Amino acid sequence: MSSKADLIVGLQWGDEGKGKIVDHMAQSHDYVCRFAGGHNAGHTIVIGEDTYALHLIPSGVLNPNAKNVVGNGVVLSPKDFIIEMEQFDNLKGRLFLSDKAHVLLPYHALIDQARERMKGDKAIGTTGKGIGPAYGDKIARVGHRLGELLHPDKLTAKVIDFFAANEPIFTAMGVEAPQKEALLSELQGYKDILGEYITDTTQLMWEIMDADKKILLEGAQGTMLDIDHGTYPYVTSSTTVSAGACSGLGINPKDLGKVTGIAKAYCTRVGNGPFPSEDFGAEGNLLRKNGHEFGTTTGRPRRCGWFDAVAMRHAVRVNGVDQVALMKLDVLDGFAEVKVCVAYEVEGKEINYVPYDLEDAKPIYKSFAGWDQTEGARTFDSLPQTAKEYILAVEEMIGTKIGIISTSPEREDTIIR
Ligand code: IMP
Repeated sequence: MSSKADLIVGLQWGDEGKGKIVDHMAQSHDYVCRFAGGHNAGHTIVIGEDTYALHLIPSGVLNPNAKNVVGNGVVLSPKDFIIEMEQFDNLKGRLFLSDKAHVLLPYHALIDQARERMKGDKAIGTTGKGIGPAYGDKIARVGHRLGELLHPDKLTAKVIDFFAANEPIFTAMGVEAPQKEALLSELQGYKDILGEYITDTTQLMWEIMDADKKILLEGAQGTMLDIDHGTYPYVTSSTTVSAGACSGLGINPKDLGKVTGIAKAYCTRVGNGPFPSEDFGAEGNLLRKNGHEFGTTTGRPRRCGWFDAVAMRHAVRVNGVDQVALMKLDVLDGFAEVKVCVAYEVEGKEINYVPYDLEDAKPIYKSFAGWDQTEGARTFDSLPQTAKEYILAVEEMIGTKIGIISTSPEREDTIIR
């Protein structure tokens, strides 16, 4: 009998509050595994007096009994990963990095930033961390895998050759070629620290499943930022949806257990690109203020708007969501009226699905009566009547159960239905 892996995915444009749910679920799992993205993701977890900033290390690191896997679907910046590791002193034997994950080197970030500058007002609004160029190299088959870090001399020669072969492109972007000696010593330093953690995590996944371990797969970013199913090209460069958990860890679709999709009771997005239910007025500002909607990784103010039931139905289906965790319901406290985007108007026609380009989609809203306060409610029944009606209506619209409702950042303010 082998175990199945539970999965957590973001259903909107990232920042849905996955951290709180993953942290909660990590307490009861033996392994927590990341399958996509890089240090563009980020959440802060407060435990007592201590605050931890997590970007790529799985959230299981905060449960001393859990082990953590960084899968092949991830792009890993050794420099940033090592800084993140410094927050913890008990990683030996608890952290496993895939030898097939791709290495993100400083030049990837320089290319990312140069491309954004060159795009001007068409910029994607990336985190500038080099995620797109690192995945680009992987797909173009000119990337470097973490296993290569175990041979710094060979990897140095490969990077230097790559720069020489592409010199005109790097010159046009203002990205300088690394110096051989400096690069070798940088890579040697990464090997010295990371070497002992690099392993074949595909075999590990199979072994722990066969040993019936409890496994949690931790998604990053959100469905609307998925390279295929999001608002392309204003997306990240990885497969953020549940299918990405399989290819990003070397497991098969039948290995997946319960899929929990995380969504806020409203919507936010950072960076550019379509966001049909964005509110540019006072209500959008209030959502930002009440929800503290500023990026953890970049500090940028997030764009805010209303819950988008059309995008959510799309996300529920793409991910095979079994239950939704509806986060930050309390941020809607005090609004006289709460809106939900129930359809889009595109070229004069009403549609109820996500088209291939959301750029010109206008929201069609349904309004609900607001409520005073949800914070502190510990059961569904103790929520204000109008909040319950909102949740039941949303549940009906998205066609899946809202099994978890969160009404504050505190662990105990989580309603399980
Ligand atoms: P990149 O992933 O840095 O290439 O950025 C591409 C797009 O994804 C930009 O709009 C970013 O703001 C967005 N993005 C990347 N990571 C996150 C995240 O963790 N939360 C929210 N948005 C993200």
